[in-house]
Amino acid sequence: MAISQQELKQQVAQAAVEYILPLLQANDVVGVGTGSTADLFIDELAQYKHLFRAAAASSERSAQRLAKHGIQVLDLNDVESMPVYVDGADEINALRQMLKGGGGALTREKIVASVAERFVCIADESKVVDALGAFKLPIEVLPMAVASVSRAMSKLGGVAHIREGFITDNGNPIIDVAGFSVKDARELEQRINNIPGVVCCGFFALSPATVALIATQDGVKTL
Ligand code: 5RP
Repeated sequence: MAISQQELKQQVAQAAVEYILPLLQANDVVGVGTGSTADLFIDELAQYKHLFRAAAASSERSAQRLAKHGIQVLDLNDVESMPVYVDGADEINALRQMLKGGGGALTREKIVASVAERFVCIADESKVVDALGAFKLPIEVLPMAVASVSRAMSKLGGVAHIREGFITDNGNPIIDVAGFSVKDARELEQRINNIPGVVCCGFFALSPATVALIATQDGVKTL
């Protein structure tokens, strides 16, 4: 019988904890991502909270979950470095470039990840793609730039829709852009970053994951 997606997420969450424990020292801070896979990782990590100092979270949601487990959550301004950041992805390719932001936490995810020495991506096999872009690209924008950034996206060949009823932890809307056929995610990420009003786009290609743990029907594989 096939292993369900939920079980695969659980397996990869456990594998991530086993992967990072040897990297951690007593005074270390762990970077923690956002989403259903990250939630499972937090629950696993909690069993080992005596082995590290604290966490830095990429969302209020994850911060609350960490705190419920009794894990101290630090303001990122008080964290100089972290050995590791662990997070899920909506898509990941063979270069470990990712498309993220389905949960809307992309900006804080990119910021927290930038402080860590390694980005460990955890995902089930449904997230592995040949080319990024089938999943709609989330872009966090300043409120006054929703229309102008959406027009810029249509010039790049995408179709943008505002995410209804959603505001990020930073107080901004998100537009989701469909229809990109992505040949060079690094180039597209750079172009989108340069559009006035864009806070952050969901491509994580300029800084891809250091390693990806992918849960498959045949066990957790390393990419
Ligand atoms: C949130 C994200 C998540 O990592 C991404 O959406 C994957 O989520 P899940 O683990 O629930 O499939 O980028 O902003």
